Parts: sequence; structure tokens; C-alpha cells
Amino acid sequence: MELGQDLAGKVAIVTGGASGIGRAAAELFVAEGARVVVADLDVTRGEELAAELGEAAVFQRADVGKREEVQALVDTAVSGFGGLHVMFNNAGMPGRMFPHFLDDDLEDYERVMRVNLMGVVYGTQFAARHMAKNGGGSIINTASIAGLLPGYTLLQYRSSKFAVVGFSKAVSIDLAGYGVRVNVLAPGSIKTQMTDFGEPGMSPADVALIRAETDKVMMSYQPLKRQGSTADTAQAVLFLASDRAAQITGVVLPVDGGITAGDPVNHAADIVAARARVIEEIKKRG
Ligand SMILES: NC(=O)c1ccc[n+]([C@@H]2O[C@H](COP(=O)([O-])OP(=O)(O)OC[C@H]3O[C@@H](n4cnc5c(N)ncnc54)[C@H](O)[C@@H]3O)[C@@H](O)[C@H]2O)c1
Repeated sequence: MELGQDLAGKVAIVTGGASGIGRAAAELFVAEGARVVVADLDVTRGEELAAELGEAAVFQRADVGKREEVQALVDTAVSGFGGLHVMFNNAGMPGRMFPHFLDDDLEDYERVMRVNLMGVVYGTQFAARHMAKNGGGSIINTASIAGLLPGYTLLQYRSSKFAVVGFSKAVSIDLAGYGVRVNVLAPGSIKTQMTDFGEPGMSPADVALIRAETDKVMMSYQPLKRQGSTADTAQAVLFLASDRAAQITGVVLPVDGGITAGDPVNHAADIVAARARVIEEIKKRG
């Protein structure tokens, strides 16, 4: 894909930037002319990425669940790169997959809410405080299709992502008067370590075996039969970050191969077939 200079002269922060969706966005932001503060818990991968990106990027370790560490990211962007125009609040964690709700001690629930929701709230507030006084900016918060579709299990994850959607829409109204736009990225099934479903210490080959099977299940309910990539999400984030989206605030942009478009099961065909079967039996009966 042809690269432009959509973010020339802009400064961005990307949380969860050492891996997956955040990493691809940081790479594309730099390719499009931005300077980027990459933030993550993973120091090794974060520093590797910053070294790859050269002078346009700096890595800073931060836990987005800690407000002072998120404020420090804004301070670094402003003192190191001279401003802040784009905040991509993307860091997130899935939490435990199948806790039995009635017996759950809710500790994991609280942890997921602190990182996935409060990390976004801190990032939005601290970035917007700077942007409001300096000509505005663009904030993009990562939710998920799990924040749009209620469903079985992953209660803490769904709660946090529904809250990200609600918070982002509401705060976009508060911040519009300051020229600060707030939008939401809602990824569907994107190939990253989060969708590996491997076990700690497992070999890459074994993870690939698990991935092949779990991908089949995920593709069964996705209309576009290709798993999304971090290049797909990065393009969507770039659009929302750039001035091309100058008139867009408070929207949720799913990058989900159509999952949230509706139920992919052809119930109408099933109903027509059931009807035809009964009519056939009635005819046979005479
Ligand atoms: N991959 C998908 O299919 C998918 C789908 C929907 C939503 N998402 C969301 O996209 C975002 C990125 O996920 P990904 O798929 O790229 O996963 P990933 O695991 O590849 O990347 C997540 C990164 O966030 C970092 N991180 C986790 N907790 C952190 C914290 N407290 N502070 C700072 N950094 C932290 C991790 O170290 C990791 O580098 C998450 O918010 C996730 O919920 C992903």
C-alpha cells in the first residue's frame, strides 16, 4: 500500500505499542511522518521496536492501569517531541477466560477493568488536557466487538470494552468544544499473540496448531472469510488519527470482517427448507 505523510509533524503516543495492534499502528504512524512514544509493560519488545524505528520513536515502560505512569507518557511526548496530537489508548488484556461467575473472587475482574477501562480513561484525560490547550487532537480508544455484542463468558473483558465504547462516545461530546476528537477502534478477530490461545512455554509450532483450529471456529461466524491483520487495524487507526477524519468524533469503527453486521447464519434458508420438508410430507400423506 502506498504510504503518504498523513501524520507529518504530529506527535503520537501508542499504548500496548510493543506488540500486535499497537505495534503495527506505531510503525505506520512513523512511516506516515509522526514521532511516537511507544508505551508498554514489555520492555524488551518495546525497546527493540523503538530501536527499529530510529529517532522518530522512543520507548517508555508504562502500566496504563497506573495514572502517574500514563501522565508520564504525556510529559515525555511534550518534553521530548514538543507536543501531543494523537493518543492511541490501545493497551489491554483479556483476563481469565472461563471463571465461574458465582464462585469468582472478582480480583481478575477488577484488574481487567483497571487496565482496559481506567487505562483508557487516564489516557484520554491526560492527553486531552494537553490537546485542549494546544489546538486539539485525536484520541483513539481500542474496544472490541466484545464491547458491542453481549455474549457468553469473558464477562470482565466484555464489561471493560462496553465501558470503553460508552465512555468514549460520552466524552467525545465533552471534548468536542476543545477540538479534541475521540473515536473507538473495535477489532474483531485480529491475528496477534492475544488470539494465539497457546499455553505459556509452548513451542511456536504447537501454538500454530492450536491457532489453525481456533481460527476455523472464529471464521465460521465472520462473513469475510479472511482473518483480520494488524495492517487492517493500523489503516483504520491512521484514518481516525489523521485530518482526513477531521469531522468524525464519537464513532465506533469495527474492523471485524463483518461480524457485527449481523447474524451470519442463513435462518431464512433454514426456515424455507423446514417449510418445504413439511409440505413434502403433507403431499405424500395425500
Ligand atoms: N487481537 C484481537 O483479535 C483483538 C480483538 C479485539 C480487541 N483487541 C484489543 O486490542 C488491543 C491490543 O491487543 P493485541 O491483540 O494487539 O494484543 P497483544 O497482546 O499483541 O498486545 C497487547 C500489548 O499490550 C500490552 N499491555 C498489556 N497490559 C498492559 C498495561 N497494563 N500497560 C501497558 N501495556 C500493557 C502487552 O504487553 C502487549 O504488548 C487490546 O486492547 C485488545 O483487547 C484485540
